[in-house]
Amino acid sequence: MERVHIFDTTLRDGEQSPGFSMHRDEKLQLAHQLERLGVDIIEAGFPIASPGDLESVRAVAGEIKVSRVAALARAKREDVDAALRALEPAAKPRLHIFLATSDLHLKHKLRIVRAEALDQITSMIEHGKKHCEEVEFSAEDASRSDLGFLLDVVEAAAQSGATIINLPDTVGYAMPQEYHYMFRAARNHIAQNYPNVIFSAHCHNDLGMAVANSLAAISAGARQVECTVNGIGERAGNASLEEIAVALHVRQGLFEASHNITLEQIYATSRLLSQITGVTVSPNKAVVGANAFAHEAGIHQDGILKNPLTYEIIVPEKVGVSSRRMVLGKHSGRNALRARLDELGYTITDAELAECYAMATEQADASKEVTDRDVISIIHIVRRNKSSVLAGDAAASAAD
Ligand code: KIV
Ligand code: ZN
Repeated sequence: MERVHIFDTTLRDGEQSPGFSMHRDEKLQLAHQLERLGVDIIEAGFPIASPGDLESVRAVAGEIKVSRVAALARAKREDVDAALRALEPAAKPRLHIFLATSDLHLKHKLRIVRAEALDQITSMIEHGKKHCEEVEFSAEDASRSDLGFLLDVVEAAAQSGATIINLPDTVGYAMPQEYHYMFRAARNHIAQNYPNVIFSAHCHNDLGMAVANSLAAISAGARQVECTVNGIGERAGNASLEEIAVALHVRQGLFEASHNITLEQIYATSRLLSQITGVTVSPNKAVVGANAFAHEAGIHQDGILKNPLTYEIIVPEKVGVSSRRMVLGKHSGRNALRARLDELGYTITDAELAECYAMATEQADASKEVTDRDVISIIHIVRRNKSSVLAGDAAASAAD
């Protein structure tokens, strides 16, 4: 098993998306939870962005001692110096420098040519390396860069001292097979001269491919993935940390790659982020959504009651969710209703079940979900009707 390092960028890429901005104390609270979760690297912010963000990164760097703390900088002197200042108190600092490498970004955004980009990359990595032992370089928009030029960039970054090279799919454009190929090519290109360089994936979700692409990079030898809690991030978000961690766990035979995430802390981390930002996850969100472990269809409920493996690939407790939910709705079956009545303390006969089921189905049609309170009142009505029928029968036979 080879180890994949989990680089969490919730506090940087996640935080810079609309609705997710966090203050210093909120960042600190989440950083402690990320450390509990077991992430290897916490990217705490982009210090040049504002004095407040520099202060937040500095505060995280001062308190987080087990996870490594990273700060982001463009390949510019003032950015790098701000990031270095923010990282001063860190026990394990990482300077993260980036520059775009696609012709589109070079021409229209940065207005420089390839040779100038190479100069900026090498000089800023060399400058950073004098003050911080661990330097990561990211080739922004790598997946839309000319592969030949990208390979030159990778080599120049390694030569200048970057020991982690990140090849982002900045706009979520790549398909898994293309992303895989790019990593293979980049690794092969420098494997002989720089065997210890770690390649990293950083994927955005514009086409819903962020997690698939991250896993494709891992299968091509990437040993770091950059991701966020609940998949938050620019536009459609980043690759979701919880989905990658659970996928590597569930399919470890396929990937043969381990990680340091304590899966049982996943749900608490997701909830804390929602609580801090006020943004909840959609009910069908993988791993942490309200429906991720809920079953309503009768056939599924029947299977789950017989053996949870029939419709669950991971038990809810493994990711910190206290229990699965059997939802009683119009698609539910009799077995689920009997099981719910049993949990509520009512042992019922087959005849009672038939009546309760008919009433519950009617209720579900009217109100979508049958709550525990509904179930209790249904069994009471059924039993009351039964005893009044029996009382009526007894009165009738007495009169006979
Ligand atoms: O998406 C991206 O390319 C980034 C880099 C700055 C790493 O966030
Ligand atoms: Zn990004």
